Amino acid sequence: MNFSLRSRALLLGLLLAGGGAAMAADGAPKASPSTAMAQRPGHAGIASANFMATNAGFEVLAKGGNAFDAAVAVASTLSVVEPESSGIGGGFMATLHIAKGNRNVFIDAREMAPMAVNPKDYLNPDGTPNRDTALKGPLSAGIPGEPAGLALLAKRYGKLPLSVSLAPAIRIARDGFKPDPRLLGSIKEEQKNLERWPASAAKFLPNGQPPATGEIWRDPDQAHTWELIAEQGDAGFYRGETAQKLVDAVHAAGGNWTLQDLANYRAKERTPITVDYRGYQIVTAPPPSSGGVAIAEILNILRGYDLAQMDQAHRVHYIVEAMRRAFRDHNDYLGDPDFVKMPLDMLLSPYYADGLRQSILPDQATPSSMLPHGPAQDPGMHTTHFSIIDKDGNMVGITSTVNYILGSTFVAKGTGVLLNDEMDDFALVPNKPNVYGLLGSKANAPEGGKRMLSSMSPSIVIGKDRSAVIGSPGGSTIITQVLEGILHFIDGQSAQQIAADKRFHHQFLPDVVDVEDGVFDAATSDSLRKMGYTLKPREAWGFMNVVTWDHRDNKLDAASDPRRPSGLGKVE
Ligand code: DON
Repeated sequence: MNFSLRSRALLLGLLLAGGGAAMAADGAPKASPSTAMAQRPGHAGIASANFMATNAGFEVLAKGGNAFDAAVAVASTLSVVEPESSGIGGGFMATLHIAKGNRNVFIDAREMAPMAVNPKDYLNPDGTPNRDTALKGPLSAGIPGEPAGLALLAKRYGKLPLSVSLAPAIRIARDGFKPDPRLLGSIKEEQKNLERWPASAAKFLPNGQPPATGEIWRDPDQAHTWELIAEQGDAGFYRGETAQKLVDAVHAAGGNWTLQDLANYRAKERTPITVDYRGYQIVTAPPPSSGGVAIAEILNILRGYDLAQMDQAHRVHYIVEAMRRAFRDHNDYLGDPDFVKMPLDMLLSPYYADGLRQSILPDQATPSSMLPHGPAQDPGMHTTHFSIIDKDGNMVGITSTVNYILGSTFVAKGTGVLLNDEMDDFALVPNKPNVYGLLGSKANAPEGGKRMLSSMSPSIVIGKDRSAVIGSPGGSTIITQVLEGILHFIDGQSAQQIAADKRFHHQFLPDVVDVEDGVFDAATSDSLRKMGYTLKPREAWGFMNVVTWDHRDNKLDAASDPRRPSGLGKVE
């Protein structure tokens, strides 16, 4: 890393900040204005990671709901049928385009640390990181955001009561369903951990074993908890019976939540980040996600190059160098905007990007040599993203998560609530990587009431002729996958192509380019190696779900990642 160029770029950015991307520095909700779109598609498209969830969304649209009611149905159904990825005990981030008034909104339903959080709980007696408390059991869980986020989405933007939009999830949890191979595989993989807590075993290991293939599996406790939310809104979760059960269960297993932590939780509206690129407006996630800042920074760097005129090796070189610089800033600056001051004006400024661009050599990789690095774990395919466009042109992308596979693997007795293990998304131990190999600074250190930094980047791309909702799970690779999806969409690709495209990823440290098999031909790989890149095969590439809308003929397309058979993109 060239320090002098970096400091020069920082200084230039600070002096000349302004223009470029819009941002939410203070968390105050400001709907950002949007490129005008007068048409309505007249029909709807939904792409999610599970066909039952996609169908639940259509069921609620048929009852008179809009995209936001459908989103409540899809998210709550995913909590039941895809609990390894997201759910009632987790959190989400949502990017919304509201057709009426042409506004863009962001909802932060991210988990937050309990007030009694103690960083020592995540260290072994010898001072090394304790990966078990960070990733398993109640100490790994933040206060859930999903119930509050869905209640807010329904109340402010939906047309239907929660009793209607939650009905499919409640019905499926009560009547049961056949888990798909991915859920069965996740339960098998985590069986040893699930056996550590009786309520986890009772939910996921009926008769002491994972459900058999083809067996009907039910979750009556989760159905009951959703029913309380349907009746009482978020009070049905954060107060009363469920809150008491959650706190009792967490305490009995060594955790430190209080009733006050739950009562204090609020989903928040924030100003989305918007960035203009090649005639499109990209609306994406602000802090406490790092995704939108990184995507805006990368696009601001890339706008200085004519990528279409380059061979593949050079195109990839410039994209990777932009990724490297954006992830460096992720590690150094970003955290919960309610707790840390972040130089967003600088990071999102085109002048800052100009400075960074000057530090990129035309034919050579810049080594990331600034921080010690740890190996990134394969993020698998937990966490989930879905995209919806309704007949009126409302658009919503939601990325929702319990973090690692089956979250903390801890179920709170009597609630059906599988708690997340999102505390690992904090920089729990300075300069030690989290499960995605991400490093963090003080900005993302754990503190009571603070939200841990996320990579979730639900994004809406709005153009004169075409628009799209794009997102994916994938830990730190979410940011680069969504970025590549946006670039492919702007290049004119269809929803199906975008979901299927081969991918690559760089996150500053470790200093390698993760590559999907077949993403580069032999000559490109050769050129990249000559420029100084280390290419490393990676097997798991998220689960992208995309809906596109062509304004010229009002055609919608919905596509789910062809790497994952359980997903469904559908237009009706
Ligand atoms: O919020 C985040 O960035 C992570 N908890 C997301 C985890 C994830 O995508 C795991 N999956 N593949």
